[in-house]
Amino acid sequence: MTFRNKIAISSEQHSLLAPQPPAEERKRAHWLSAELERHNYLYHTLDAPEISDEQYDALFRELTELEKRWPALRSPHSPTLRVGGGLLEGLNKKEHRRRMYGLDNVFSNEDWRDFVERMRRAWDAELNGPLPPAFWCDPKLDGLALEVIYVDGVLSGALTRGDGETGEVVTEAVRTIRTVPLRLRGEGPFPSLLEVRGEVVMFKKDFAALNEQQQALGRKPFANPRNAAAGALRQLDISITESRPLRFLAYNLGEVDWAATAPCLSQHELMERLKGYGFLTPPDGRLCAGPEEVEAYAAWVREHRQDFLMEIDGAVAKQDNLEAQEALGFTARAPRFAVAFKFPAMQAETLLTSIDIQVGRTGVLTPVAVLEPVAVGGVMVSRATLHNEDEIRA
Ligand code: IVH
Repeated sequence: MTFRNKIAISSEQHSLLAPQPPAEERKRAHWLSAELERHNYLYHTLDAPEISDEQYDALFRELTELEKRWPALRSPHSPTLRVGGGLLEGLNKKEHRRRMYGLDNVFSNEDWRDFVERMRRAWDAELNGPLPPAFWCDPKLDGLALEVIYVDGVLSGALTRGDGETGEVVTEAVRTIRTVPLRLRGEGPFPSLLEVRGEVVMFKKDFAALNEQQQALGRKPFANPRNAAAGALRQLDISITESRPLRFLAYNLGEVDWAATAPCLSQHELMERLKGYGFLTPPDGRLCAGPEEVEAYAAWVREHRQDFLMEIDGAVAKQDNLEAQEALGFTARAPRFAVAFKFPAMQAETLLTSIDIQVGRTGVLTPVAVLEPVAVGGVMVSRATLHNEDEIRA
C-alpha cells in the first residue's frame, strides 16, 4: 500500500459517503479506540500495564475487523494506524510555523555565570520589571528534535527539525511511536493549535536488544541509539519504523493558540500540562530558584548520567517564566533564555590491539585504532579513528 498525507485526508472525507454502521457498532468502535489508546498510554508512557498483551491484541483485532467491515469508522486517530503498513514515496518538506532553534552551550560554571550575565544585560528592566530568578532544568536528551502538531486535540502532523526553518514531514512514522498521543488526553477544551516539541530517543536497554537482534540476523549493528533513532524516523517503509522502539519526550512548544483554554505561564506549568495531555517528559526535571541551584542540578545530572534510561549529554536550563522567555527572544542561532550545560564526552580505558590504515574514497589515509571492545555510555566500542597526531601518540 502506498499513501501520503494528502491521500489519508481525502479517505477520511470519503468515509462520510461510505455506508454507515449501526449505532451499536459505532459505539463499540469508539470505545475500543479510546480503550486501546488508554492501554497504550499505561504500557508505553507510564510503564504500568493493566492488561496482558493477549488481551490487548484481542481488542486490537476486534477494532481492525470493525474498521474493515465499516470503512466509515476509520478515523485519523485510530490506534490501528499505529501499525504502520504503509510505504512512502519520499519525504515531503514543510516550513515550521516557528523556527526550531538550537541551544548555545556552556562547559563550566564560569561559562554559565557569563550566560546569566548576558541574559541580565539583554533584559529591559524598565519595560519588563525585574528579571524573574527561577530556571526550569532538565537533562539534555541525546536524540533527534521533533515537532508534533495537534489541531483541536488530534495529532495532525509531525516534522523533523531539518535546518530549523524547514523540516521533513514524518507524520506516518510518528504515529507508530506509542508515546505520542493520537489525541490529547483529558477532557479539554484543548488549544485549537498546539505544536509540541521534544526529542525522539531510544532507551539504552531497547537499543541493546535491537542490536542483538540485528546481529542475530547477520545485519550491521547500529553505532549508537541516536543513529538508530534517526534512521528509524526517516524510514519510508513505516513497518520498519514501527519495529524500532522509539520514544518521544516533550519539553517545549512551537506555535500555540491558547484562546480556547487557560494559557501556561511558566515552563514548570507547561511540563505538568504536557504530562496531563499524555506526553512523556524528560525525567528528573526541576525548578531551580536561582543560578546557584542550576549549578548544583547540572552537577547532579552529570554525576548520575549513567543511571538515566536514555543517553544524556548535558542539562538544559531555561528561564521559567514564559513571558520573560518571549521578551528575551533569540540571537541569530539560539535563545537568550535557555542554555545547555554540556558534559565532556564519555571516557573509558581499554587496550590497543593494533592500528589499521583505512583508505578513504578520495585516497586519504586514516589510521584506525583496533581496540579490545569496551562499553562507553551504553555502546560497545572496538574501533576509533585517530584523527590527529596527538591522539596517535597518546
Ligand atoms: S529546550 C529553544 N530541553 O538540544 C530551544 N532542548 O542542542 C529550547 N534538547 O535543539 C530547547 N534535550 O533538540 C530543550 N531537555 C531539553 C533538551 C533539548 C535535548 C535538544 C533540542 C535542541 C538541542 C540543542
